[in-house]
Amino acid sequence: MERPFASQEEYLGQVLELCALRLSRMEGNAEEPAWKAQRLERTLRLRSEAALDAGTVIALEYLFRAYQLTDFERHCVYLALAPELDRSFEGRFAACQADRGQLPSLELCLRTFTAQQERQLALLARWRERLPVLEHLFCAGCGGADGRGDQSAGLKLDRRVTAFILDFMSEEPALIGAGELFWPGEPLPELVLHREKLARMLSFAGEQGKGTRLLFYLKGEKLSGRRTLARHFCEQTGRPALVVDVESLLRREGAWDGVLRPILRETVLRRAALIFTGFEHLQDAGEEPPPTEGEGPRPTAREPVSLTVHIRRLLELAAMATDVVFLLSPLPWQPQTPCAPWVRAELELSAPDAGERLTLWEHALSGAALGEGASLESLSNKFALYPGQIAAAAQEARRLRDWAGEECLSDDTLHQACRSQLSHTLGKLASRVNAQYTWEDLILPPEQKRRLREACDQVEFRRRVYDQWGFGRKVAYGRGVSMLFSGPPGTGKTMAAQVIANRLRLELYKVDLSGVISKYVGETEKQLSTVFEEVKKSQSILFFDEADALFGKRSETKDSHDRYANVQTSFLLQKMEEYDGIVILASNFLQNFDEAFKRRLKFIIDFTLPDRDRREQIWRSVLPPELPRDEDLDFDFLARSFELSGSSIKNIAVAGAFLAAAEGVPLRMTHLLRAVQAEQHKAGKSVGREELGEYYHQVQQDLEERTRQE
Ligand SMILES: Nc1ncnc2c1ncn2[C@@H]1O[C@H](COP(=O)(O)OP(=O)(O)OP(=O)(O)O)[C@@H](O)[C@H]1O
Ligand SMILES: [Mg+2]
Repeated sequence: MERPFASQEEYLGQVLELCALRLSRMEGNAEEPAWKAQRLERTLRLRSEAALDAGTVIALEYLFRAYQLTDFERHCVYLALAPELDRSFEGRFAACQADRGQLPSLELCLRTFTAQQERQLALLARWRERLPVLEHLFCAGCGGADGRGDQSAGLKLDRRVTAFILDFMSEEPALIGAGELFWPGEPLPELVLHREKLARMLSFAGEQGKGTRLLFYLKGEKLSGRRTLARHFCEQTGRPALVVDVESLLRREGAWDGVLRPILRETVLRRAALIFTGFEHLQDAGEEPPPTEGEGPRPTAREPVSLTVHIRRLLELAAMATDVVFLLSPLPWQPQTPCAPWVRAELELSAPDAGERLTLWEHALSGAALGEGASLESLSNKFALYPGQIAAAAQEARRLRDWAGEECLSDDTLHQACRSQLSHTLGKLASRVNAQYTWEDLILPPEQKRRLREACDQVEFRRRVYDQWGFGRKVAYGRGVSMLFSGPPGTGKTMAAQVIANRLRLELYKVDLSGVISKYVGETEKQLSTVFEEVKKSQSILFFDEADALFGKRSETKDSHDRYANVQTSFLLQKMEEYDGIVILASNFLQNFDEAFKRRLKFIIDFTLPDRDRREQIWRSVLPPELPRDEDLDFDFLARSFELSGSSIKNIAVAGAFLAAAEGVPLRMTHLLRAVQAEQHKAGKSVGREELGEYYHQVQQDLEERTRQE
């Protein structure tokens, strides 16, 4: 049993001694017997193996094992390393090579390894075969390592390899910006969903047995948990995971082989599994391929097939570096060529349903106190977030809470955190409405109000009905809530949309129809598709005001260029049904919607002009409590005498308040009545003695006084 090396330094000292022995015969010390070097090499190997077993880190031996280097290759690495450790070797190499360089050439390596010519030729041939791997270790163009076969050029170790040999824990600078290495045992987000998928992967790997190269294709959107799943597989199988971003790689300059090399070298050195994120960037056939001059395959530029070549090359080279690769992409993948030697397995990570979202929320916020009214169930129902987004939202919510110095996570904070995860460009096509009205502000007959509440409940109780009560299986399509608000102007349609947004704490976006409708065939559909794509990302309420402009009956279209005639109702219905959230259409003309269309909407709510009682309620509710006013404002009279819409009443109240403010007095009945006159005047109606009744004289008096003052 050989005594193990106590340290890497001791080991490297012996390596230098061995190099010196090998060289001495070249230097003319013919009497130095060859067996001395052979014996030293044998003890070197035994002692280092014993050291590795005892837990001493000898990076170079680790490298030999990882690359499974042959005896000759090890010999080359020793010689190439020698001048890095001891400069005096430079002179000795120069002397042995007739001053043709201070680095050991491949030729010198061969001659110092064996004197037999035949053996040398065999070694050389093997060296050529192994070039793709040996290029990880030696600088390109060295000692024939570039395949040009120049055996007299000096062998130089790649800087990364020297750094690794001297410090096992050193990091590869080429990983910065493109890759990240995770060791087993490092903190890892817990696997809340997809546990059965992990189990399947592990058992599949077990069935395939050792030596199989496993290629897992994880199809799913960003943040769907693909990376966490892959990392858990690595964790369970006890190997480091090297996560590499394909998009960043493609941005790098140089040939594809060269770009991949540092990544693959690290994979070997760390015995890691490879996880490629953003693999879709290689699948996107439209993309221009990275430059490929010099080495590696040379796909003709701009040909879609070139990226396929890149994929093939990637898999080919990766097969020399590891036996587990994960490819992460949202796209389906049908490789045209077989991926041998890889055994391929595909998994799809779909978006979590409301029940799974709740599990994720509960996990992410376990132990955190919730404020009054805050409900994780309601968040899960409303925001279709991916696992990664929920984790980030939970973190953001905690941050907001701590920053505000609060104890609990308030409902507001949670909603804000959810919204922070949604990035969309809806704002370009629709304007965000600041929803300020609440149930109390909205004065409607009980029947209509109840229907609005029921519409909200369809969002609030989604999980219970679709997930827990099993309706999800029966309703695969059209789980969203579509509504049509119809009725005369000023009856509260826009207001009701705001009330719903406020109650559900969702954002409300009003689509700018002038920006969407186009007279060009198909263009309006395209714009609408974009609107729906973005609203999906934003999880907002979509509000189409004057919707009849968009979806009016086709039969009424006289001219094919009629700008309102572009949208097929079926197209809109399809888009609405695909969207899980709320879509509200508002219109003054119910008759413009065809029956088939109306049948497919979940709620149709008629907004009628208010009757006397409701008018009185509206009169009372539109005046803010802060407003200074006379005690004897006669709401009963106002409601009885003027058949006004809610919106007219609001306008009158505001106008009356301005009259009062200008006079510097509290709001009086006469202010309101003068405002009524003005409002009705706009509609071409006059309000005279008869309509003003008992207030006629007061109003007249008031007006006279005003004129006098002016
Ligand atoms: N039912 C109502 N209850 C309370 N206030 C109302 C009601 N209807 C209208 N109002 C008042 O009138 C204003 C305007 O109403 P809103 O914009 O909702 O009408 P609309 O039905 O959308 O009209 P349009 O068809 O012209 O778009 C509201 O902001 C509110 O102050
Ligand atoms: Mg409106």
